[in-house]
This record gives sequence, C-alpha cells and structure tokens, in this order.
Amino acid sequence: MSDFLSDADFELYRKLVYDASGIHFSATNRSILESRLKERLREKKIESLAAYYKLLLSDKEELKTLLDSVTTNLTRFFRNQPHFDALEHYVLPELIKLKGSSGERKIRIWSAGCSTGEEPYTIAMLLKDCLPAPWSFEVVASDISLKSLMVAKEGFYPDARMQGVPEAFLAKYFDKKAGGYQIKDEIKKFVRFDYHNLKNDSGLRDLDVVFCRNVLIYFDEAAQKATIERFWDAMASKSFLFIGHSESLFGMNTKFEFVKTDWACFYRKFI
Ligand SMILES: C[S@@+](CC[C@H](N)C(=O)[O-])C[C@H]1O[C@@H](n2cnc3c(N)ncnc32)[C@H](O)[C@@H]1O
Repeated sequence: MSDFLSDADFELYRKLVYDASGIHFSATNRSILESRLKERLREKKIESLAAYYKLLLSDKEELKTLLDSVTTNLTRFFRNQPHFDALEHYVLPELIKLKGSSGERKIRIWSAGCSTGEEPYTIAMLLKDCLPAPWSFEVVASDISLKSLMVAKEGFYPDARMQGVPEAFLAKYFDKKAGGYQIKDEIKKFVRFDYHNLKNDSGLRDLDVVFCRNVLIYFDEAAQKATIERFWDAMASKSFLFIGHSESLFGMNTKFEFVKTDWACFYRKFI
C-alpha cells in the first residue's frame, strides 16, 4: 500500500472517475491513477487528496483535466488495417447499394474515442479515395481528452507517427513540414472534432458506421454495455460497428449481430 493513496482514497477516486467517465481502475492499474493524482496536486499546489476531492466536486473544468490525465491515448494511422479493408471492400459497397436505392448519397461515420485524430483522418482519406461521385461523407470524431483533441484539430504529426500511411496518401493528403506532416485541409474539412464523454448520449442519430476501437477496454462491463446501447440508438438501420480487435460484445446480450467477412469481423445493426 502506498503512503500517498490509501485504500479508502483509492476507492473514493476510482468511483469518482468511473462515475464520470466509465473508466475503470482495478487494483493492477492503481499506480496509474496514483501518479496522475500526484501530478494534479503538484500542478494545482494542493496539499491533500481530501482538499483536491472537494475541489473536483465543485470545479467541472478540473474534473475534465483529471479525466483527460487518466486516459490512454495511444493510436496510429491505419491501426488494424483489416478494419479499413473491410470498410473499403464490404461496408462501403453495402451502404452504396442500400442507401443508393433510397436516393440518399451521404455516408455518416462516427469515430468515438478518436484520440489525436489518426483514426478519423484514416477514415476520411480512405473515403475520399474510394467513394464514387456523387457520394459524399462526413466523419464526426469525439473524445474526452481535450489535449488529444487539440492535436487532432491541428492535424500535424511528427515523422515518427507516420508509419502505416501508404506513400500515395502521404503524397496526396499531407504537406511535409519540418519534423513531420500536416494533414491537408481537403481531408480536414470532412472531419468534425467534438468533446464528448461516452457516458452521455451524443445526440447523434442515423449514423452509418461507428468506430469505437480500443476504448471499451478501459470500461467495466456495465459501462461497456451502456455505451453499446447508446451506439445502437445513434445508428441507422443496417449500419456497422467496429470495435477494437481485442474487444468483444460476446456475452453482453446486445442486439448487434456479429459479422465475419474475408477482411475483418465487426458488428451490425440489422433492424
Ligand atoms: C487508446 S485510445 C484509442 C484511439 C483510437 N480509437 C484507436 O483505436 O487508435 C482511447 C481513447 O478513448 C478515449 N476515452 C476514454 N474514455 C472515454 C469516454 N468516457 N468518453 C470519450 N472518450 C473516452 C481516451 O481519451 C482515448 O483517447
């Protein structure tokens, strides 16, 4: 047990973080919560965990900062390529067939838990490249981490973070700058970044595709199920849901159906 974070404080703080975000701290990742709390106390020049807790109850902005600090924002362009192959070769042709017959020519995608933007920009580059005219699309991208959203909106990525981006996309959709690459406005304009906590209803409706990859792993089962149910409400009939390849809805008793294709597995709302 640590001198800084007693068992009682750990319980108090992990409940606060969980209730506010769904992010679940177990005994094994307790040290992460502890180090983030230490940082916040140092930064705010606050002496005790009790005083900081009191502050959190009245200061919504500080609660947002704490939540931001406990998130894991690891991501990369074209992460889990088979998902993007499935998007290109299965999902888009299906949507074109389905929506085309109703006369609609727009595809709406949500990247939920988009971190620093690599996922929504990957989606936007892909759709820009392979959606035939006169089809258009929009990508809504949201996260609880304001720091990550700032990077995402800026759209500048250091050289080291560009692995996985095909040469042709690098040349077409980025400008080379000192130390990295700047995503071009012609891609940026398709992506709308928003602060959104998956604990709450997004208000989004009629989405054709939802990507929520490598986010649910930080939630416990109850928060995962509640989030998945909110996705259901936000999605159109016959739409598609991609979750991380180490995540699963197995045993969750949801209405989504598991779909296995030549490229990747995902879930579908058939109704
Ligand atoms: C590991 S990143 C995944 C990024 C991207 N989806 C990918 O697969 O590469 C997880 C992201 O989920 C976000 N996140 C965690 N809890 C959240 C919540 N309650 N609401 C919205 N975003 C959340 C974190 O801030 C983080 O940026």
